Amino acid sequence: MLNIALPKGRLGEKVYTMFDKAGFRCPDILSDSRKLVFESISSGVRYFWVKPSDVTVYVERGAADIGVAGKDIIDEYTPDIYELLDLKVGKCRMCVAAKKDFRENPDVTLRVATKFSTIARRYYSSIGREIDIIPLNGSIELAPVLGMSDVIVDIVETGTTLKENGLEVFQTIMPISARLISNKAAFEFKKDEILKIQNRMSAMVEA
Ligand code: PRP
Repeated sequence: MLNIALPKGRLGEKVYTMFDKAGFRCPDILSDSRKLVFESISSGVRYFWVKPSDVTVYVERGAADIGVAGKDIIDEYTPDIYELLDLKVGKCRMCVAAKKDFRENPDVTLRVATKFSTIARRYYSSIGREIDIIPLNGSIELAPVLGMSDVIVDIVETGTTLKENGLEVFQTIMPISARLISNKAAFEFKKDEILKIQNRMSAMVEA
């Protein structure tokens, strides 16, 4: 049995259809239920629905052999895992955004609201800018609107959330997409099965 952690939500459902097409069917997973574990003996897989930001934890600790996590989560938590493949879905970008009239003052410490403290610190340290991180867990866009921060470092997908809150992108830090990841020990012990999935998914991505 190969244990696979999928990110709960729309991206997870999209990614499941890729696993399905690759030959790892488990149709029960799409049933409208609160169940978290779905198994298909005939396909040799067991899927778990996991909070997207927790997928790397399950894979790093070996509770899941492989999984699908956003590049944002991988870069933020730097888990000790293998990144096998860019699935080229769940595309968005990590950005610095601020109110439209925001003007940078290099003499003042920049207040940065984010749930990606590591990525934000790394980015600002690379450009030699002093910052004060304001850690938040969601609705990050609110911070500059209320004057609690100067900028935010956050994910932008369609840009709707920024637009509807009078914010705009000032810099793009990096593009993001979903990645197929593997536990390091599992990659040795279950190499054939994992490579089979990787190769079939890779062919699908290329097509
Ligand atoms: C994410 C992100 C932005 C929004 C961007 O939030 O933090 O707020 O999506 O998407 P858009 O560019 O298409 O508008 P999420 O929905 O994960 O909720 P959160 O505010 O709780 O982080």
